[in-house]
Amino acid sequence: MYASFKSIGAYVPPKKLTNQDFEKMVDTTDEWIKQRTGIEVRYIASEEQSTSDLAYEAAKIAIERSGLKHSEIDAIVCATITPDFLCMPSTACVIADKLGISHITAFDISAACSGFVYAMNIAKAFVESGIKKNVLIIGAEKMSSIVDYSDRTTSILFGDGAGAAVIGTSDKKEESIIDLHTSSDGAYQDFLITPGCGSKNPCSQKVLDEGMHYLKMKGNETFKLAVNTLTRDVKNILEKNSMTSDDIDFFIPHQANFRIIDAVARKLNFPQEKVVLTVAKYGNTSAASIPMAINDWYESGKLKTGDLMLLDTFGGGLTWGSAIVHFNQK
Ligand code: ACO
Repeated sequence: MYASFKSIGAYVPPKKLTNQDFEKMVDTTDEWIKQRTGIEVRYIASEEQSTSDLAYEAAKIAIERSGLKHSEIDAIVCATITPDFLCMPSTACVIADKLGISHITAFDISAACSGFVYAMNIAKAFVESGIKKNVLIIGAEKMSSIVDYSDRTTSILFGDGAGAAVIGTSDKKEESIIDLHTSSDGAYQDFLITPGCGSKNPCSQKVLDEGMHYLKMKGNETFKLAVNTLTRDVKNILEKNSMTSDDIDFFIPHQANFRIIDAVARKLNFPQEKVVLTVAKYGNTSAASIPMAINDWYESGKLKTGDLMLLDTFGGGLTWGSAIVHFNQK
């Protein structure tokens, strides 16, 4: 039995934050942001919405499109770095409750922007080992809850959102997740970090006063590593499966920066029409970025059942990963 990508869903919160808005908030320009990142707009959750609310909306759509009943989902894995609660309960448990599903395996994973591909790896293992039948995987983030809106180097990059998929079973290889690779290197842990409010620097007035609860990033160093690591990772997974860019219908990378995506796509000979780009309209939504991009391509009619997707991601940890996946929503 193979693991199969059965459906996609996504949710974008209603509040728009444009580059022009940022011009009023920090010392930046629309031109700088567009040139350096490709981002034009991102969407921000309301104060009342937490990550589980965004995830719930995406999950409902994904389950409906899979044709399954809520009761047929037997595990939920939520990838997020902005959980509803720092320690417990997990966001996955809260989402399960909102969906009206109980007595199933539900847990969160933390792999920053690589979270969705990591979650898919877990789902594939669950399904192919026979432990679970239908795993709901979610990438959901309220990045606005950890972004310092006075810091022009990070605030302009991130948006909120959620994407979800059901990973079920198929007996056909041409409907399956062909291969998947995840990796990490903790030596670069300080490249992307929220230093405060964990066990290392527990929450205190001092931690808050120093802004240690906000996301910090060594942007330029991360950029260079991202391009090289992603290129190598995609080359490896293609070679391992005796494929080239010609065999792939859509290259769907993590949407962090247009320049990173463009550099990797060029090095790997992906023609423009095969490269999925949503960074301009959503910014970097961390673990939600890949499923939101898949959903965007599906809803715009470009992604069809049977298409072969190459997913590719890189994020805090550092973590990275890639996957060759048939889109099998019927
Ligand atoms: N507006 C205007 N100027 C700015 C802004 C801004 N918003 N931000 C930074 N600058 C300035 C800097 O201060 C610097 O000025 P200086 O030369 O006087 O010191 C100058 O612009 C250049 O700064 P760099 O950081 O070198 O700019 P760079 O071209 O690298 O672009 C960026 C910055 C967009 C952050 C880029 O490095 C990037 O995208 N990095 C990778 C992000 C990423 O992939 N993260 C991983 C995933 S995220 C996750 O896991 C949660």
